[in-house]
Amino acid sequence: MHSTAVRTIAVMNQKGGVGKTTTVANLGVGLARLGRRVLLMDLDAQAHLTASLGLQELPADAVTSIDVLEGQASLRQAAISLPCDGQGSLTLAAGSLALSGADVLFASRIDRELLLKKALADLGPSDFDYILLDCPPNLGVLTLNALCAAHGVLVPVQAEYLALQSLAELMRTMDAVRAQLNPDLTLYGVVLTRFSRTKVLNREVAATLREHFPEQLFETRIRENVALAEAPGFGQDIFRYRPGSAGAQDYLQLAKELLRKEA
Ligand SMILES: Nc1ncnc2c1ncn2[C@@H]1O[C@H](COP(=O)(O)OP(=O)(O)OP(=O)(O)O)[C@@H](O)[C@H]1O
Ligand SMILES: [Mg+2]
Repeated sequence: MHSTAVRTIAVMNQKGGVGKTTTVANLGVGLARLGRRVLLMDLDAQAHLTASLGLQELPADAVTSIDVLEGQASLRQAAISLPCDGQGSLTLAAGSLALSGADVLFASRIDRELLLKKALADLGPSDFDYILLDCPPNLGVLTLNALCAAHGVLVPVQAEYLALQSLAELMRTMDAVRAQLNPDLTLYGVVLTRFSRTKVLNREVAATLREHFPEQLFETRIRENVALAEAPGFGQDIFRYRPGSAGAQDYLQLAKELLRKEA
């Protein structure tokens, strides 16, 4: 039997377009297919996670992440159940453009970094096995809320020039959050995305990452795979869109490796 304690994981990298949202969606669905109860939370005003799971058009009065952060609705009220094959379950707290106002909206609140942590406390201890937070590509108040609410940080990295610089900046941010707000925050893992074995630069950066993060670098690498880029346009996760693709294989393997780490 797996542990009943919920694991809250912030999927973050302040660098844009590295595969955060793709990882939240497909790792989340992978975990649900392996029998886990998974909550995905869209904390990005682009709301790509929400759209990529098929919810392009939310009703105007839909309860979304911003309402939960503001304390105007509970997470339970925001929860949208998504279809899921297998024994687990998949739930989404949707994002919306209104998240773009968060920095201004919360500027004068003394507890502005702790709004998400408070909202998550509202959940029962056994409602979910995993909560994956899709962060925006910056270190603003939404990302800080995710870092304060999370047990660990999962960092998708593209094995390219400057990847290490943005990781170093991220480590400094995590240190600051640990010192001030969330002493238990861990680096849960680093996962290579859009990986191409034929690219020398990809192999070199992968080797350097393994030196710097021997414990945290996932063995599973997410390969560059066009189906992963196409699937969001159909509002489908990779397992539904192309079950036989490299992307589906890689994300299922990542989900399995993550569960092994926990065991
Ligand atoms: N392994 C992959 N192979 C091919 N395309 C990919 C892969 N992973 C992600 N993509 C594509 O790359 C783009 C960026 O990915 P994604 O949106 O997941 O990144 P992100 O880090 O969430 O971006 P942002 O910083 O804007 O939130 C998307 O078009 C996505 O479909
Ligand atoms: Mg994203």
